[in-house]
Amino acid sequence: MNTRPIILVTSANGNQGKRLVPRLLAGGHRVRACVRSSASAEALRNQGVQEVLVGDLADPAFIHEAVRGVSSLYHIGPTLHPAERAMGFNIIDAAREAGVGHFVFSSVLHAITTDLVQHEIKRDIEEHLLSSGLEFTILQPANYMLPPRLKPVFEEHVFRLSWALERYQSMVDLDDVTEVAFSVLTDPARHLAATYELVGPGRFTAYDIGQVLTKVLGSEIRVERIDMAAFIRARFGEGDPVTFAHQSQVSASIEKRYSNHDFLGNPNVLGWLLGREATSFEAFVRKEYEAYQALK
Ligand SMILES: NC(=O)c1ccc[n+]([C@@H]2O[C@H](COP(=O)([O-])OP(=O)(O)OC[C@H]3O[C@@H](n4cnc5c(N)ncnc54)[C@H](OP(=O)(O)O)[C@@H]3O)[C@@H](O)[C@H]2O)c1
Repeated sequence: MNTRPIILVTSANGNQGKRLVPRLLAGGHRVRACVRSSASAEALRNQGVQEVLVGDLADPAFIHEAVRGVSSLYHIGPTLHPAERAMGFNIIDAAREAGVGHFVFSSVLHAITTDLVQHEIKRDIEEHLLSSGLEFTILQPANYMLPPRLKPVFEEHVFRLSWALERYQSMVDLDDVTEVAFSVLTDPARHLAATYELVGPGRFTAYDIGQVLTKVLGSEIRVERIDMAAFIRARFGEGDPVTFAHQSQVSASIEKRYSNHDFLGNPNVLGWLLGREATSFEAFVRKEYEAYQALK
């Protein structure tokens, strides 16, 4: 019988999960992964994940099943999901009932910024967690350095952003976030009751980002502002807007906030946790560009 403690990861085949789950498996840990689709379930089983649960985190019964027998868990709310707050509250309550030893929550940098809808939701979940009596650790990543956002750069030589191009933002490499999440989950005693801001070095306007991309690719990268409403239509289709009202609301709040204010953090905490400098945006682009060229 397998008696190794189970680590639950929600949103397990998303941007973070795709990196964290293989890292946990490589470290010899027993993983229970929650996803929505059977395609993701199959991909995770093929990687060697011991337990894969397919279901809807918006369903409290599924959450109860997911947390049963778990020693620790990493909860990531799926991007732009209208039930993100209820999912967070329900999994905290279920984890407490099930006696989960350590609840690690993937939140966001400056969750207190309540004019950003998805931040306010995470602020509320953080508060619920703090009040739960559970042992916890909260990770607060800055804007992800996301490989899919580089696709148009590599293919069309244009970087697109849906807010004011002259506003500064801080970003973080998800490989660094994964390294921290791995340490927190596998060496919990060092990280109990901690809240960590996870931020890479530097602050960048869209034009700064364009300059880094131009330097790494060796050819001029154009920077372009796209209309958030058009972005949402492209992502969710021309169907009944009521079906994606939440996503539109979140996106509008991002465009407004990030067009009127910079979104900045400090890399010290991430550097201390990693025991090295956090990955720079330029190093991230080099890594992704090398991978892209190797596949061509
Ligand atoms: N993007 C950023 O810059 C940024 C920065 C800081 C914080 N965040 C926050 O990070 C979180 C997202 O993290 P991420 O990008 O790693 O996740 P993600 O890629 O959005 O997660 C996708 C995963 O969630 C699963 N999923 C989707 N809906 C589900 C449901 N109803 N029930 C169960 N599983 C479901 C998907 O399953 P399938 O694979 O089966 O489809 C997939 O595996 C969000 O809360 C976001 O606000 C984002």
